[in-house]
Amino acid sequence: MELQIRPLEVDLSLLKDLSPTLIASHHANNYSGAVNRLNSIRAQLATLDWQATSAFNINGLKREELVAANSAVLHELYFESLGGDGVLPSSGLSVALTRDFGSVEQWRSEFTALGKAMGGGSGWAILAWSSREGRLINHWAADHTNMLAGATAVLALDMYEHAYHLDFGARAAAYVEAFMGNIRWDAVYDRYRTAVASDAIVCGITVNALTEFRANVLDVRREEDFQAAEHMVQGASWRDPSQVSRWEKELDRAQPYIVYCMKGLDIGRSTALALRARGFNVRYLEGGIDAWSRAKAPLQAKL
Ligand SMILES: [Fe+2]
Repeated sequence: MELQIRPLEVDLSLLKDLSPTLIASHHANNYSGAVNRLNSIRAQLATLDWQATSAFNINGLKREELVAANSAVLHELYFESLGGDGVLPSSGLSVALTRDFGSVEQWRSEFTALGKAMGGGSGWAILAWSSREGRLINHWAADHTNMLAGATAVLALDMYEHAYHLDFGARAAAYVEAFMGNIRWDAVYDRYRTAVASDAIVCGITVNALTEFRANVLDVRREEDFQAAEHMVQGASWRDPSQVSRWEKELDRAQPYIVYCMKGLDIGRSTALALRARGFNVRYLEGGIDAWSRAKAPLQAKL
């Protein structure tokens, strides 16, 4: 089966400081070229006499297959992340970036510095969710092939010269800032949520199961949601999900813990995964305190 070229769906008229000519050319030439190259390489591989082919030819074809495949997928990620206003709203993703980098601003500073450091060279600056480490990571990727094992890329900044030279010449730093101002964060957040939901399949617990289970219960609703709430699960104590490094030292690796957020989506899941990666026995409450309340399970007034 051949990989199909995905159409450019971003409304080019919405982009700021990135010309329609630049983006359309990038899509038509570099992205589409990678897809076509991948399909040609795979067609050749399909007819290869593997036993009679030299090792260097096999190495070359398989290497070029990987380069073309990753180039195609990363370009799709790149184009699908454009078309927004670049403003990340307060959300589970901003909570996770704060937890893993100290603040959203610090994440941005590190990510843009990584991109700018590639100016004059080539490669991708990537924000990825690492399943192994239970956290978001910025990483460098050269030659389309240096992907972090066990991680899912959620944002990819193309730092090959073809991505900016038409508009910016050698001014790679200006291009990085233009890219940041056009990020469609809802698409990035969707990718992050999907990756976290997939990993968290192993560590959910239902309301019914929790009522039978003895565990330390931690309320990890966002600070603003916790402040606005009147009740919490009986026996729970609140911990800020954006500050896991500050309070994890209070936990005991020999004890089981349950974390819950408002609806049992990415904040509870991601907090549980971050703690499990640190070696704690943690599960998250499916449906969060919303499901707990609907089940008429015991609540207490917020402390
Ligand atoms: Fe590119």
